[in-house]
Amino acid sequence: MKKKLIAGNWKMNGDLAANDALVRAVIAGMKDAACTVAVCVPAPYLAQVQMLRTGSALEVGAQDVSQHERGAYTGEVSAAMLKEFGVRYAIVGHSERRQYHGETDALVAEKARVALAAGVTPIVCVGETLAEREGGKTEEVVKRQMAAVIHTNGHCISEIVVAYEPVWAIGTGRTATPEQAQQVHALLRAQLKAATEHSGRIHLLYGGSMNAANAAALLAQPDIDGGLVGGASLKAADFLQIVGAAR
Ligand code: PGA
Repeated sequence: MKKKLIAGNWKMNGDLAANDALVRAVIAGMKDAACTVAVCVPAPYLAQVQMLRTGSALEVGAQDVSQHERGAYTGEVSAAMLKEFGVRYAIVGHSERRQYHGETDALVAEKARVALAAGVTPIVCVGETLAEREGGKTEEVVKRQMAAVIHTNGHCISEIVVAYEPVWAIGTGRTATPEQAQQVHALLRAQLKAATEHSGRIHLLYGGSMNAANAAALLAQPDIDGGLVGGASLKAADFLQIVGAAR
């Protein structure tokens, strides 16, 4: 069985002092972790966290990546720049970027492609809104979002990580039940299986109010290979409990 992956998504939180304390505590507490552990941090702190993690098993991720390789794109950060700083993962298509920055399925797919080409593993987020779930459109929406990434990335799709993050569960304290999450994960697994013979190596993470109390039940589902953790990743004790539940 593949190792689970627990990735923290700090979002736009942190400062030098808080990051220092958080990363040191996470590293100290993850010594016996059975899973891969990563933190996806704001771009200015990548170098700081990279320095702090030296000699540990903690992986570092970014929260976005430009779809462009280089050039006149003010404010953007390229995949090659991330790679130079030892960044292993980049979240792409988080619902907050789809919602507040107008990221389309095609753009997300392109970002995944550019990250892969640079040797950075994209954590591709998919998920339905509350209105879409209530309208019976969950399957249609997540499959459409996934299909765009499959279409653009071809056989390289086996190298991505996927995070199912129902938008209604993000930062709301309202978690999908393990059964609801598993149902969507199974759909995504089948879709990926049809796209690549190596689908078994793809990690399917659940994200959306995962916390110390609900992580074990979610992670026990057959198609849930880890978690993308927002709020709870900002507190070392909570994050480490989730890490401990991933075996
Ligand atoms: P949350 O965020 O755990 O705070 O709900 C998850 C995410 O947005 O990645």
